[in-house]
Amino acid sequence: MRTEQDDVSVNVLIIDDQHEVFFQLIRRLESAMKNGRGALMISALIEELKQYTVIHFGTEELLMQSYEYPLRDSHRVEHDKARARLQEVGTEITAIEMLDELRDWIRRHIAKWDLMLGEYLNDRGID
Ligand SMILES: [Fe+2]
Repeated sequence: MRTEQDDVSVNVLIIDDQHEVFFQLIRRLESAMKNGRGALMISALIEELKQYTVIHFGTEELLMQSYEYPLRDSHRVEHDKARARLQEVGTEITAIEMLDELRDWIRRHIAKWDLMLGEYLNDRGID
C-alpha cells in the first residue's frame, strides 16, 4: 500500500520514520475530531503531537549540528515558527485550524527544507 510517506521521502530512514509517525498522529487526531471523540481524548492527542514535534525537530537539529549542515540556522528558524504556533493551540487557534495549518506546513517544510537536508546527509553517507 502506498502511504503518504512515499510521496515525501527524504531518503534518510530516521527522518522518514519520524515523519510517518507524525502523519499517523495527525490522522488519529483528525479521525478523533471527525468522530466526535471527547475533549479529553482530543487534548491528549494534541499533547502527544506537540511532544512528538519536539522529539522530531530535535532529531533533525542534532543531525544538522553533528554534520555541520550549513543551512542549520535557517532550518531551525522554520522549526521555531512551527513550535511557537503549536503552543498557541487552545488560545490563539483552534485544534481544527491547527490541523489544517500543520498538514499544510509539514508538506511544504518536508518538500523544501527536509529534502535539502536529506540530500546533504546522503552525500555524507547517511541514509
Ligand atoms: Fe525539518
